[in-house]
Amino acid sequence: MHFLSLENIELKKILKIVTFAIDLKKNFQKINDKFNNFMAANIFLEPSTRTYTSFKIAENKLGIKSVDFFKNNSSIEKNESLFDTTETLKALGFNLFVIRSEKNKYYEELLKIKDISIINAGDGNLDHPSQTILDLMTIYEHFGTFKDLNIAIIGDLNYSRVFLSNYKIFKRLKTNIFCVSIEEKISKLKVKNYKLSEIIEKIDVFIFLRVQRERHKISISNDYNDFFGLNEKNIKKIKDTAIILHPGPVNRDVEISSKVLDNDKRIKILEQVKNGIFARITIFLYCLNKLT
Ligand code: CP
Repeated sequence: MHFLSLENIELKKILKIVTFAIDLKKNFQKINDKFNNFMAANIFLEPSTRTYTSFKIAENKLGIKSVDFFKNNSSIEKNESLFDTTETLKALGFNLFVIRSEKNKYYEELLKIKDISIINAGDGNLDHPSQTILDLMTIYEHFGTFKDLNIAIIGDLNYSRVFLSNYKIFKRLKTNIFCVSIEEKISKLKVKNYKLSEIIEKIDVFIFLRVQRERHKISISNDYNDFFGLNEKNIKKIKDTAIILHPGPVNRDVEISSKVLDNDKRIKILEQVKNGIFARITIFLYCLNKLT
């Protein structure tokens, strides 16, 4: 089974993945199976720290053998296509493909290749489904529900892959979503663009998104943090019960000021990172039809 986008997975199943991963975090011993017959190719054509490393840890914990392919250590550097690379690696015995690419829906052309699972570790500015699972975990662990939560997604929405991935699932979960985009128009969706200052007091979950300097030419103005970020001044306005998320890496003092980032108890960014391991173990189990 593939794991490409949460759009193709029914809500009940997504919630099963989230609660299974939370359970796994509490009691890792429950996984007795080892998957020694599986080989994973981690193909990362864009840089990654969190996603790559947590998939790698997940593979190790499940006994899945893995080999890493980055742009500069594979024949992709010599213009071999992703399709030919995947077929070649399948011929060498790989059956799980964890892939990050700058190309939107890169996986579509790979679906012709039978008997492999493709796990989307991020495509272009469209989707980051494993990040969304760990974000859902972090929210559910804190609130025990998604019902009636006010969720704000703030930052470089037009160029972020986390934005659309998260927005769509929050919509399906019927949460109240407030988008705060650094650009006037939110190109991907017809939704209102709020100001952070007008909603800050009622938000339960803040998701700050990184300015994607690698995807578009944008200069970050000196007052970015005043309008689109958290700082020592506006942090006083947020609910005590709120949580603050960011997929990382954070541009310090841009999305969140260093003082807030390092000291505020409502920051759950490293909890998100930890949850990434359990989310990704569960995603492998889902792909291997072992999610009971
Ligand atoms: N959140 C995220 O995808 O981080 P990395 O780019 O470090 O994997």
